[in-house]
Amino acid sequence: MSARKTSLTGIKPTGEPHLGNLIGAIEPAIEMAAGDYESLYFIADYHALTTARDPEQLAHWTRSVAATWLAAGLDPQRTVFYRQSDVPETFELTWIFSCITGKGLMNRAHAYKAARDANVAAGDDPDAGVNMGLYNYPILMAVDILIMEAHLVPVGRDQQQHVEIAADIAGSYNHLYGDRGYRFPVPEAVIPPETTGHTLPGLDGRKMSKSYDNYIPLFLAAPKLRKLVRRIPTDSTPVEDPKDPDSSAVFQILAQFAPDDVVAATRARLEAGGVGWGELKNQLADVLEERLAPMRERYEALMEPGSELDDALAKGGEIARERAVRVLRSVRHAVGIDVG
Ligand code: TRP
Repeated sequence: MSARKTSLTGIKPTGEPHLGNLIGAIEPAIEMAAGDYESLYFIADYHALTTARDPEQLAHWTRSVAATWLAAGLDPQRTVFYRQSDVPETFELTWIFSCITGKGLMNRAHAYKAARDANVAAGDDPDAGVNMGLYNYPILMAVDILIMEAHLVPVGRDQQQHVEIAADIAGSYNHLYGDRGYRFPVPEAVIPPETTGHTLPGLDGRKMSKSYDNYIPLFLAAPKLRKLVRRIPTDSTPVEDPKDPDSSAVFQILAQFAPDDVVAATRARLEAGGVGWGELKNQLADVLEERLAPMRERYEALMEPGSELDDALAKGGEIARERAVRVLRSVRHAVGIDVG
């Protein structure tokens, strides 16, 4: 067994990738993949099915999110990059884990609990609008992690509980069957510290997020990008007055995308006064266009039918599946299926 730890994360293809995703999730995860880990990253297309009801849309986001990660620099030679749906063993193990997971554990999972609490508050049936996919979501996620024998799971804070549930399930399995030839590694979440500044303000000044609908998409044509940048709120400080860079959403976004010397020079110019917000917004639009244009070109090439994207996903899928088949064989044997 290799001494390197295995890091794994799943990406739910449920929307248009935006600048906040790039800074907050994609780039840190790509950086981690370049470190001394064995890494596996996958598109959690079956997780998206808990909410996705438009087949074309789901197929489009699956491809588009995969293309985004490659365009952003994920190296599929180094990271096993695949679609969850290319590993059907996942669903066999989901059943096995369902049979050793307490219903109470799922009752406490935050997404289900939030839906239930909202229903109760509205005076509806507590389970109104809750499908079994949403309810079982954490078991499927535990399988994603455990079937690849991952140790580390880089995720946002909102996914921490799910990784803890995966660790619980690994513990239950190991307790029940661990002396029958196979034990799962117990995974741990890797949460970026709040202080790394890897969050971006959105078009309304709140954290950039799909749920606030305040985001700047990654792959906009230059004029549209400029138009959106103009919508970022600013205060009414007159052009000639000194300005506080740190309370400006425009500056905060610039600081994540411009080279350090440009950021420092812009800070000094704002503090000295004489630079209007309009000018700063033009600068930001230029900086973004320069950073994003090459990525956009690569993204568009990858989105063409039959591009190297399909090849990369097919190869990644094969490697991932071999791992899953091996683990599932041990588990089936351990639980008493297929023992002969
Ligand atoms: N639930 C995760 C999210 O919504 C996506 C996901 C699915 C995942 N399976 C995973 C993340 C396994 C890490 C590991 O973002």
